[in-house]
Amino acid sequence: MAESTKTATLSFEGKTLDLPIRTPTAGPDVIDISKLYAQGGVFTHDPGYTSTSSCESKITFIDGDKGELLHRGYPIDQLAEKSHYLEVCYLLLYGELPTADELEDFESRVTNHTMVHEQMHNFFRGFRRDAHPMATMVGVVGAMSAFYHDSTDISDPWQREVASIRMIAKLPTIAAMAYKYSIGQPFVYPRNDIDYAANFLRMCFAVPAEDYEVDPIMARAMDRIFTLHADHEQNASTSTVRLASSSGANPFACIAAGIACLWGPAHGGANQACLEMLREIGTPDRIPEFITRAKDKDDPFRLMGFGHRVYKNFDPRAKVMKQSADEVLDLMGIHDNPTLQVAKELERIALEDEYFVDKKLYPNVDFYSGIILDAMGFPTSMFTPIFAVSRTVGWVSQWKEMISDPTMKIGRPRQLYTGHTRRDYVDVENR
Ligand code: SDX
Repeated sequence: MAESTKTATLSFEGKTLDLPIRTPTAGPDVIDISKLYAQGGVFTHDPGYTSTSSCESKITFIDGDKGELLHRGYPIDQLAEKSHYLEVCYLLLYGELPTADELEDFESRVTNHTMVHEQMHNFFRGFRRDAHPMATMVGVVGAMSAFYHDSTDISDPWQREVASIRMIAKLPTIAAMAYKYSIGQPFVYPRNDIDYAANFLRMCFAVPAEDYEVDPIMARAMDRIFTLHADHEQNASTSTVRLASSSGANPFACIAAGIACLWGPAHGGANQACLEMLREIGTPDRIPEFITRAKDKDDPFRLMGFGHRVYKNFDPRAKVMKQSADEVLDLMGIHDNPTLQVAKELERIALEDEYFVDKKLYPNVDFYSGIILDAMGFPTSMFTPIFAVSRTVGWVSQWKEMISDPTMKIGRPRQLYTGHTRRDYVDVENR
């Protein structure tokens, strides 16, 4: 990409600085302020990074105004309809759609890494049965550093590749084990003769007492949910993974940090919080009460599954998820699902309300996903772990992109300090 010669002029306190402007292939120009402190002696201040580009990336682009999401240039709605999760993983990791041979090789490599070290089974037993599966996943994924030493040297491209495949392959197994452990059922080993999504469903729902055939409708819905959650630019958990990785920490520890961040209800935890909110609303006649609460500045309540830092239009993933919810419930013979009816009526009312219209608050990826996962038989506590399984490829792809960038530096933000200036210690008898 040709370097831009455009500059932004910043004048203050008798100084004038010309800051380079870089023009992306898509999205707004960025003003490069990396020399601002050295040349001007000042910091910028942007808590929450509402106007800050933290890195250069080629993986995913979101146009929040158009409600468009591109993975390596391909629109998410086309990928959800025509592709499948492991092919999207290949695209995110390597930048291009695979040939048939490349895809077969990639799927074989992932399939042959789905088992976890047998000794990790004991690790689960240290948790209380009622531990949230996200707590278990943070612990177990972080512990992968203690089991897979031969893929923790991030300076070795081959070890980076092995670690990437291991995480994509093993996260479904670990999430399913976290679920089985929480319900007191034995772990179910992955199988090499069924596909990624079907394997996850089987590891979650099969029991040794009888054969289990994965419903192809459920497998297709599961795969589509994985595809829709795979990556999303520099969201909070991806930024966490990038910052943790910038110190050179091993990839397993960095992905564990991403899982911890995703858990929050403002981020990946919103799918669980949203279904619980829809159940609390219960019937369409109670929706106005909750809309009023969501608009009340003195009430911390927010409509879960609504709003987004980037999308100021429909989240394209929510559109696909809404279609899938209708299809999956219909194909599963679940008609007039009360939670889905509340969700659709809540969406209709909110999108006509000037508060939501003025603030450009639309349903996001978490608004409908829980309805599908609930219909598939998952407890709400498994909604965010499923998000984490899917997002692992996004975290790993962004991690690989950053680690292989020769200009990478450790992330170390500065601050606006408003605390005490220097003062001397006072002995306790004089306080
Ligand atoms: C994900 O970043 C990503 O890409 C994330 C994600 C991904 O794939 O990685 O897309 C996944 O995390 C989706 C978001 C899931 N979270 C929720 O559904 C929780 C509910 N939504 C919010 O809390 C909120 O909308 C955020 C956190 C998603 C975005 O918050 P922002 O960008 O910081 O916006 P804000 O809090 O400044 O809100 C702007 C205004 C505020 O009102 P004012 O102070 O300007 O008067 O809109 C209001 C907010 O009060 N607002 C809401 C609201 N979301 C924002 N009011 C009621 N209900 C809501 N849901």
